[in-house]
Amino acid sequence: MMLQRRLFYFLFLSLVCVVVTDETIEILKNIEDLKNIEFGHDYPHHGLFLLHFLASHISIDLSEGILLHFDPERQDYGFQYYNNTRIDGNTFLHPDDPQDRVYYTLGDLSSEAVRTKLPPYVTQEFYNAYESPKRDLDRMVLEMQKGSSRKADRVYITQVVIHQQGLQYNQNKTFEISPKLIKQVQALQKPLNLLQALELLSTDNLNASKGSSDDPRLALPSDQFLNYLKYSEKHLKNIFEEPSLRWLLILAGYDLDGRFKVHEKIWSCSKDESFQREQTTGNQKVHLCEGPAKIEVKSTENGYARLTWSGIPKNILDLKPYLVLFKSDSSNDLETFESLQEKTSGSVDTTMALNHGLHPRLVTYNFANKYGFLGIRYSVIWRGPQFDEANRAIPVDITGYNASLQLYTRNGYACARLYIKNSFTDWENEFRYSWVGFYTSDQDPNHKHQHYQWVSKFDKVDNKSDDHLIYEYESSLSIGPGVQARFLYSSQTVYTRLSLRWSSVAVKARTVPWENMYK
Ligand SMILES: *[C@@H]1O[C@H](CO)[C@@H](O)[C@H](O)[C@H]1NC(C)=O
Ligand SMILES: *[C@@H]1O[C@H](CO)[C@@H](O)[C@H](O)[C@H]1NC(C)=O
Ligand SMILES: *[C@@H]1O[C@H](CO)[C@@H](O)[C@H](O)[C@H]1NC(C)=O
Ligand SMILES: *[C@@H]1O[C@H](CO)[C@@H](O)[C@H](O)[C@H]1NC(C)=O
Ligand SMILES: *[C@@H]1O[C@H](CO)[C@@H](O)[C@H](O)[C@H]1NC(C)=O
Repeated sequence: MMLQRRLFYFLFLSLVCVVVTDETIEILKNIEDLKNIEFGHDYPHHGLFLLHFLASHISIDLSEGILLHFDPERQDYGFQYYNNTRIDGNTFLHPDDPQDRVYYTLGDLSSEAVRTKLPPYVTQEFYNAYESPKRDLDRMVLEMQKGSSRKADRVYITQVVIHQQGLQYNQNKTFEISPKLIKQVQALQKPLNLLQALELLSTDNLNASKGSSDDPRLALPSDQFLNYLKYSEKHLKNIFEEPSLRWLLILAGYDLDGRFKVHEKIWSCSKDESFQREQTTGNQKVHLCEGPAKIEVKSTENGYARLTWSGIPKNILDLKPYLVLFKSDSSNDLETFESLQEKTSGSVDTTMALNHGLHPRLVTYNFANKYGFLGIRYSVIWRGPQFDEANRAIPVDITGYNASLQLYTRNGYACARLYIKNSFTDWENEFRYSWVGFYTSDQDPNHKHQHYQWVSKFDKVDNKSDDHLIYEYESSLSIGPGVQARFLYSSQTVYTRLSLRWSSVAVKARTVPWENMYK
């Protein structure tokens, strides 16, 4: 009787809790909580990839503040302003929303300006699930105080729904992500010390030291941990290169089997176990579902597109595939094509000048008889990421000013873009004697530029941002690996560049050398 009453009381309490939390947005506190929701759980959703990406570009301070290593206002990584006020005047997120809030969303891959700024692991499903309506539903949202460009108050995950009034978020599928959960995702980036992990796992679950670890992998029951480890090594490794991403998918309850089936279909993997065994018996080890396959547009020494590939399965090479290049992912006009020469990895230089949006695809050609004509047709196996004009590098701060500098390319030439924050009203006066220099290497001394231009001679671009003025300049130096732009500041009148005393000049910004931003 007593027990029943307690149970009843307990149920009543839980009911009250549900009613209360229904009105506000639920907070996910642990990686485990991701398991109980649908967010990003299957192909071709990109939500968990966004979460992984965001977690690797923020830090959580000791008081759980969320510090951004980028500026969403400047549209870094394709962040977009989100209007939280609905047509009916209500707010969407945070109903008791104070007026000083501003929101930014991440992940609208249907926009070319967004998808080109995100890494291949975030966009690969979007490019390859070409006709799926589910390939662009997931979003992350940052809630910030107006005017604080590098600190977020809250992080949300959500899904869009298409309404008559335009894009809206599905309130039922919106959750807040706690700083602790973000820290757990970050913890996955530390390489797992297997010995230590096994030692920890072999001790009983009741051992308190296990639960207190900030690495969520170590909180798994040991049999599950070992199963996942095997599964991850065997299957996921051929699809997702990054170990920490594989762990996030595992811990968040992603549909691994479903994704592996998609992989088998795309790469025509043999399901015949005996055939696989036969292939591995000889000296030559052939794994028929190897990967992860990568095709990318990079840069030659002199501003042309270099096609690179790696991890192409051998059974695909047998089909004599080609890498082809299109102006954009929506274009069907072939620009150039190159044979893979039966190599699983390699690169080949083209004569296409580098430009934003170039799109590489892996195809096979075959003769087809259509309408009585014999012609060559191609079928696409895999679509790579589009080339980004700035190589996905965000602008670097100009020290001491609310301004930043970005290196990008147009027509294969090195170009520089200046972002001047609206609040920096005195910039023309302040930068009167400043210029941007272009260098072939970050080792070159400051006076050994290949090309330069005064800031005052940059061209204004007026359609990109509400918060910044944007100025651009195209140099005569070809883009290529190692090229760097520097912002040089001088407070003195300089009549000719030759009479300039270099001691009075300060370098206030250096871009990351071209193509050096990846490991
Ligand atoms: C946001 O949307 C509401 C309703 O459509 C509109 O009244 C308001 O001006 C918008 N705010 C901004 C900053 O665009
Ligand atoms: C959210 O859930 C409620 C209740 O289950 C439902 O009536 C409503 O249509 C859902 N909203 C969306 C956008 O799916
Ligand atoms: C928990 O495991 C650690 C080894 O990782 C050990 O040093 C510690 O004594 C164990 N604690 C208990 C209560 O068993
Ligand atoms: C940049 O602008 C903010 C206000 O928008 C201001 O508080 C800050 O001092 C400025 N920083 C510099 C270096 O001028
Ligand atoms: C800005 O305008 C230029 C031409 O005026 C155009 O080429 C470019 O795509 C536009 N950019 C955006 C982000 O709208």
